[in-house]
Amino acid sequence: MMAGEFARWSADRLAEVEAALEAWVPVDAPAGLGEAMRYGVLDGGKRLRPLLVLAAREAVGGSADAALRAAVAVELIHAYSLVHDDMPCMDNDVLRRGKPTVHVKYGQAQAMLAGDAMQALAFEVLTPGEGVDAALQARLCSLLARSAGHAGMAGGQAIDLASIGKPLSEAQLRDMHRRKTGALLQASVLMGAACGKTTAATWSALSDFGAALGLAFQVVDDILDVTQPSETLGKTAGKDEDSNKPTYVSVLGLEPARRYALALRDDAQSALRRSGLNGAVALSILADKVVDREN
Ligand code: IPE
Ligand code: IPE
Ligand code: MG
Ligand code: MG
Ligand code: MG
Repeated sequence: MMAGEFARWSADRLAEVEAALEAWVPVDAPAGLGEAMRYGVLDGGKRLRPLLVLAAREAVGGSADAALRAAVAVELIHAYSLVHDDMPCMDNDVLRRGKPTVHVKYGQAQAMLAGDAMQALAFEVLTPGEGVDAALQARLCSLLARSAGHAGMAGGQAIDLASIGKPLSEAQLRDMHRRKTGALLQASVLMGAACGKTTAATWSALSDFGAALGLAFQVVDDILDVTQPSETLGKTAGKDEDSNKPTYVSVLGLEPARRYALALRDDAQSALRRSGLNGAVALSILADKVVDREN
């Protein structure tokens, strides 16, 4: 796959994901809840997690329908995590994906409920009853639940809030980032892989790939927070230092953080080679893009 082919591949997949989100996120939820949910998830975001699901599924074969459901489900969990992350009780942000945050637009109670409902909808989308093998439905739910809950995103977010103003060790910082951001990215790769058949060795290599890429993603998020303006980020720049958050930039410094992100990208690429998969070029390009991005 050449650069032009990848651009076409991702444009096609993004359109597919956008159409599925458009169809599955309700318009008619009561009392304005649907409007707040749709505002939080539609029309914005890089959709990296859905692309990882679809690229991993294509690398291993298997059910395209299940993969599309997993792609939508992980984006719903991610979008819910952003809605809550931005609330005044967490990061207190007013700008997200270039727009006012959900709580600014609809109020805090509605933002909390929109996040709650997106989380539930993710698991509803994963369990259609018919069309996807029952064991696969359960497997996808398990992977997503594990990555979103105490062992993953929610646990990492708890550490993040408990760490304000504290000098974390590198090991503590790595643990926090793996949970709050890495886990969901790793689960995206593994949900895609679960849609087809893999050997234990391929599964383990893809798991390592997802872990390295997932950690790299948050290291780069920390870097972009200090190097990019708000207009490029679509969210408030300089927020981590203002909020006294320990980050890879504050703990290691900017240049070492950059070098670490590149080393993690190399780890991801070598794990991907170890997977033995031939059709994994899109995954490889996505891993490069995690590190080489402006927002
Ligand atoms: C931002 O994620 C929050 C983190 C987990 C670092 P993204 O950078 O993927 O945000 P969107 O989805 O493109 O808006
Ligand atoms: C958030 O990390 C990770 C989530 C689980 C949402 P950040 O708080 O750094 O994400 P941004 O920078 O607000 O997108
Ligand atoms: Mg945060
Ligand atoms: Mg934040
Ligand atoms: Mg950030």
